[in-house]
Amino acid sequence: MSNTVINVAIDGPGGAGKSTSARAAAKELGFIYVDTGALYRAIGVNALRKNIDTKDVSAVAASLEGISVDLVFENGEQKVLLNGEDVSTEIRTPPASMAASDVSAVPEVRAFLFDLQRDIASRNSCIMDGRDIGTVVLPDAQVKIFLTASAEERAQRRFAELQAKGSSSTYQQVLDELIERDYNDSHREIAPLKPAEDSVLLDTTGVSLEEQVEKIINIIKEKIS
Ligand code: DC
Repeated sequence: MSNTVINVAIDGPGGAGKSTSARAAAKELGFIYVDTGALYRAIGVNALRKNIDTKDVSAVAASLEGISVDLVFENGEQKVLLNGEDVSTEIRTPPASMAASDVSAVPEVRAFLFDLQRDIASRNSCIMDGRDIGTVVLPDAQVKIFLTASAEERAQRRFAELQAKGSSSTYQQVLDELIERDYNDSHREIAPLKPAEDSVLLDTTGVSLEEQVEKIINIIKEKIS
């Protein structure tokens, strides 16, 4: 591989295994892994903390006034900072997931986060995951992958993760929320979730994590060789 910066965009719906497999693939390739969902989640948490209705577009836009959202990388691990405070754990709750999906439909929020994402990608070889990375944020990424899996399998994976954290959510609640979020994310007017035309489609239903990572690494190596 040459010294040029390599950008890999991985998009897809929630629970498709983007973050776990992208993190592992990035480690193997010596790239940084950037989880852009964490940025929208931090803005969602900011709105929840201020008791803002996350469906109120102008209130969400106004909530950006004076806040800072940053990503820092320590030993390859990403942390998300809201006004300098590490909110990496707080952003993972089900209310934060829904708030993130709501605020991500607000154009001012997307504009607010755009430069930060572009800047990281311009300076680092990275795998960046999200919903609009291949279509909007990094349209010139050398590699674009669209990762998906059935809603039931994605809900099962999310449910297992939440259970491991001691959450009391039921499988049905997780599935319902996931379907609602899929709908929101793919039907919003701005930067909706959809595969970039030049992306490689990878369906991970029934595919083990090891296999997913291997497939992702193979796609990347093939594209950049
Ligand atoms: O990937 P995630 O589940 O952490 O993302 C949380 C929400 O943020 C998701 O429902 C949609 C939004 N999002 C987005 O609109 N664009 C991105 N690039 C990443 C996430």
